Amino acid sequence: MVGKLFIVGVGPGHHDHMTFGAKKAIEESDTIVGYETYVNLVQDLIDGKNVYRYAMTQEVERAQQCIELAKEGKIVSLVSSGDPGIYGMAGLIYETLAEQDWDPKSGLQVEIIPGVSALNSCASIIGSPLMTDFAVLSMSDLLVPWEIIVKRVEAAAQGDFVIVIYNPASKKRIHQIQDTIKILLKYRKPSTPIAIIKGAYRESQSVVLTDLENMENYADKLGMISTVIVGNSSTYNYKDLMINPRGYKSKYNLQEQTNPKLKV
Ligand SMILES: C[S@@+](CC[C@H](N)C(=O)[O-])C[C@H]1O[C@@H](n2cnc3c(N)ncnc32)[C@H](O)[C@@H]1O
Repeated sequence: MVGKLFIVGVGPGHHDHMTFGAKKAIEESDTIVGYETYVNLVQDLIDGKNVYRYAMTQEVERAQQCIELAKEGKIVSLVSSGDPGIYGMAGLIYETLAEQDWDPKSGLQVEIIPGVSALNSCASIIGSPLMTDFAVLSMSDLLVPWEIIVKRVEAAAQGDFVIVIYNPASKKRIHQIQDTIKILLKYRKPSTPIAIIKGAYRESQSVVLTDLENMENYADKLGMISTVIVGNSSTYNYKDLMINPRGYKSKYNLQEQTNPKLKV
């Protein structure tokens, strides 16, 4: 029997934001593997299947088990939140297979099912913060040395990128976001808009709009499912929204009802 491994992105946490492809892959699978919180997100789709739930820090075991199960002939869905190719399990699966001299053409079949990442889902909740160039940074220094992350923060801050921050802090890991705020303040106005989105599209969803100068007050309130979006020099707030202008206003009069004229 030929097995298959799907690496499935289930989106931010609500089925409305899961793709048809993700649902189909899960339905086709007889075996589901994942971090228990992500498995819980698809609980209603996995009745009667073999389910392997893992604690958070067991990624290597999870990857190896999926590969073994698929090699034994199982149709396996490894579920990941958001998109599995963005700080997800896709990388570790391919790295592990590459170590085993895997041949993508004749060996185990692997298919990535893309998902809506936290950056898309969080952006949609607070307006249009990602209309121009943006950088995504993770504050987790578990696998990447902190000095390298600091370099990337500096570069993104200097380059005036809108910045999306994944894994901003945990109970034990808070200095990273505090250091990042200090670096950002070297290059950006204290009034630079910031949005903190916690649990996007989950029952626990909450949103805070603040700015760089006040961000420090929220550093200890961030959690494992918080994403922080930092505006660039042209980002502004309008009511409860964060707007990153694309540049149309410098060329067009946006107040005209029909046929907006080019400004001369
Ligand atoms: C290891 S990364 C996984 C990212 C995931 N693969 C994705 O594409 O969204 C975990 C981080 O994603 C962000 N995240 C995931 N789900 C989220 C949600 N529902 N709301 C806000 N942020 C979320 C948080 O920053 C969290 O610390």
